[in-house]
Amino acid sequence: MTKVYDIAVLPGDGIGEEVVREGLKVLDACEEVFGFQTKRENMPYGADHYLATGETMPEEAIDRIRDMNAVLLGAIGDPRIEVGLLEFAIIAGLRFKLDLYVNLRPIKLYDARFCPLKDKGPEQVDMLICRENTEGAYSGIYGHLRKGTPDEVAHQSMVFTRKGVERIIRFAFEEAMKRPRKKLTMIDKANALRAQDLWTRTFEEVSREYPEIETDHAYIDAACMWMVKNPEWFDVAVTPNLFGDIITDLGAMVQGGMGIAASGNIHPGKVSMFEPIHGSAPKYKGQNKANPIATIMAVSMMLDFLGEKEAALKIEDSVRGLIVDGQIRSLSAGVHPTDEIGTMVAERVKG
Ligand code: IPM
Ligand code: MN
Repeated sequence: MTKVYDIAVLPGDGIGEEVVREGLKVLDACEEVFGFQTKRENMPYGADHYLATGETMPEEAIDRIRDMNAVLLGAIGDPRIEVGLLEFAIIAGLRFKLDLYVNLRPIKLYDARFCPLKDKGPEQVDMLICRENTEGAYSGIYGHLRKGTPDEVAHQSMVFTRKGVERIIRFAFEEAMKRPRKKLTMIDKANALRAQDLWTRTFEEVSREYPEIETDHAYIDAACMWMVKNPEWFDVAVTPNLFGDIITDLGAMVQGGMGIAASGNIHPGKVSMFEPIHGSAPKYKGQNKANPIATIMAVSMMLDFLGEKEAALKIEDSVRGLIVDGQIRSLSAGVHPTDEIGTMVAERVKG
């Protein structure tokens, strides 16, 4: 019997629609080749919808998504709207309300010519960052006092729970077990942020259950340094929400830029969301200039999550092939038209 997956598609703002269109083109190719199907529901949430209706991400839509298999999201953010309003309601809304506690961000270099670091190639850049995705600095506990006056006070709390910390650390150990190097680095800042010693202790305790895994530790400032100096030191890493946000932009550059970096917001066994890690890049909207590879790789991660491992690998191999053969000359916006890249990958998947 043909497998059918229910997918919510949220193209969102800016370049979101263009890159999602190409991601779906590649998904169509996979369905043709691998014989599964997707039933897609397009959801209009984002800036235009908000301006027209005042609605950001309705509860009723979140509830419908709960019964689906996955979400493919393009990008959220628009200069016409207050900074953070839509990002928080839609991206963080989905992450928190669906309890997508893993933000999985692979950093993989396919060809040395796309790495800004000297003498680093695919062998040195192949890591998996497990970013905690529902707590920390993103918990939404903040406030202002005497706003707009010279005596203004502002605060924002980082909140960590034992359960929240433990589940992402366990997930990271399990990911490390699946990889040949079996190394896991804990990245925190427990020397300055003493609340993070909850991370240090939990990591130490859980590590006893995984004697096969080589463990390592780095403070986030040093981790940024090592990412640039010796990226080969990293295999799998686990880190709190905000640090994961920051270090994966750095990682995206090391793997060739925002045009290629994808992510999965995952709750194992439940509906999960896949998206490029780049933003909505309003200056490229509607120009057919944005690189859709990050979204195409998000489709690959989505298929891997759904159990369509062969299709997921085929997308990755196709992207790698086009890069290594030189058919994809650059990962920067404006070099290849958006739709040209989508077509190239789809053809290679079918070929
Ligand atoms: C990301 C983004 C988001 C984040 C923003 C848009 C809220 O930067 O997915 O990395 O900070 O998590
Ligand atoms: Mn980010």
